[in-house]
Amino acid sequence: MDSILVRGNGPLSGQVPIAGAKNACLTLMPATLLSEEPLTLTNAPRLSDIKTMTELLQSLGAEISTLQDGKVIAMSSHSMDNHIADYEIVRKMRASNLVLGPMLARLGKAVVSLPGGCAIGARPMDLHIEGMEALGAVVELRDGYLHANAPIGGLKGGVYNMRFASVGATENFVMAASLAKGTSILKNAAREPEIVDLVSCLKKMGAQIEGEGTSEITIQGVDRLGSATHEVVTDRIELGTYMLAPVIAGGEVECLGGRLSLVKAFSEKLDAAGVDVSETERGLLVRRRGDRVKAVDVVTQPFPGFPTDLQAQMMAALTTAAGVSVLEEKIFENRFMHAPELMRMGAQIDVHGGTATVTGVETLKGAPVMATDLRASVSLILAALAAEGETLVKRVYHLDRGYERVEDKLSQIGAHIERVQE
Ligand code: UD1
Repeated sequence: MDSILVRGNGPLSGQVPIAGAKNACLTLMPATLLSEEPLTLTNAPRLSDIKTMTELLQSLGAEISTLQDGKVIAMSSHSMDNHIADYEIVRKMRASNLVLGPMLARLGKAVVSLPGGCAIGARPMDLHIEGMEALGAVVELRDGYLHANAPIGGLKGGVYNMRFASVGATENFVMAASLAKGTSILKNAAREPEIVDLVSCLKKMGAQIEGEGTSEITIQGVDRLGSATHEVVTDRIELGTYMLAPVIAGGEVECLGGRLSLVKAFSEKLDAAGVDVSETERGLLVRRRGDRVKAVDVVTQPFPGFPTDLQAQMMAALTTAAGVSVLEEKIFENRFMHAPELMRMGAQIDVHGGTATVTGVETLKGAPVMATDLRASVSLILAALAAEGETLVKRVYHLDRGYERVEDKLSQIGAHIERVQE
């Protein structure tokens, strides 16, 4: 099993290219099921989660090939010969549930295993189910699978007022409603950039959608969708992660492809902590103002709030801040698994329910630590960048789900990091 070995060192400098967004790609790929014609994605990230989605879509009958070393994904779902998303694939990744809406819209039926994914909370499917029901579907849970059936004649336009702005449930609703008969309205929709990216692609395929990026999305169903080529939006979570490297280790790093609009709430917190973030022609330039950042309080929220997917990395940065920071996790109930590992490196953190209080220490010390989910694993690598001595981050298979060549990208800016096999 692979581990990552980091030897803490001084300031970092240089440029890091930021890939296309994993979470955008994972919803753009199932959109191929909505059309008989080809869908091509460019700027795709090379990640194991993308391979899992490829495997899932192929199992449903999609033809998929990759070009340019995986950066281009060419898909065609001319004929679909299966409507069952099997547990053996779905359990690897929760985003597999994003085939539910497209399959139901295209075939009038879908059987989708309840998903697995990161162990960061219960993550139920009730909002996805209610969304499909609002479009006229009947959904039942049997043997660990959701069995969804559209009414005779296909899905019908409907109104759904979501209790919580779920990203995935918004994506499933919008995709399904694109082929439903009549007009659908989603109220309290999620507003994440990945949803805006999905809608932009669906529009290229011929969908009629308005209001993406706001909390009310209106979809006028069409009879069929056509072909499109679409460039995947920049990964704001990878962007935020690399922005934290010079915050933790010092120096100056330019994140290529980054834009402030993707990470506004996050950049505002960095500014309050004593970090300069400026937009350049090619991306975002990040530099810590003093020797040490200042403590700041963070509350995770749906977009445009501070992203839960950057909470672990931000906590890593705040472990060595001057003062006491309070981090509140409002999206997932069990997302502080990185805290005990950071404490093994000398961090002072008190966790009570959804709140973590971090008392900054002067410096962390290297230690063997264990990655427990995707963002937790990268937070440990970030913390190790400036820790004294060596840190061995074990079980990095989570990392490969969401970060392209993390050790290469960090080496490029001067970090002492390598992948080792144990
Ligand atoms: C997406 C992202 C994930 C990110 C999350 C929140 C992808 C592939 N993944 O996940 O990286 O952390 O958004 O920004 O895009 N919930 C319910 N019922 C449901 C659905 C969700 O109660 O039917 C709850 C979840 O348990 C969780 C919260 O809503 O507490 C947020 O989940 P959601 O926005 O759906 O996240 P995902 O789409 O799974």
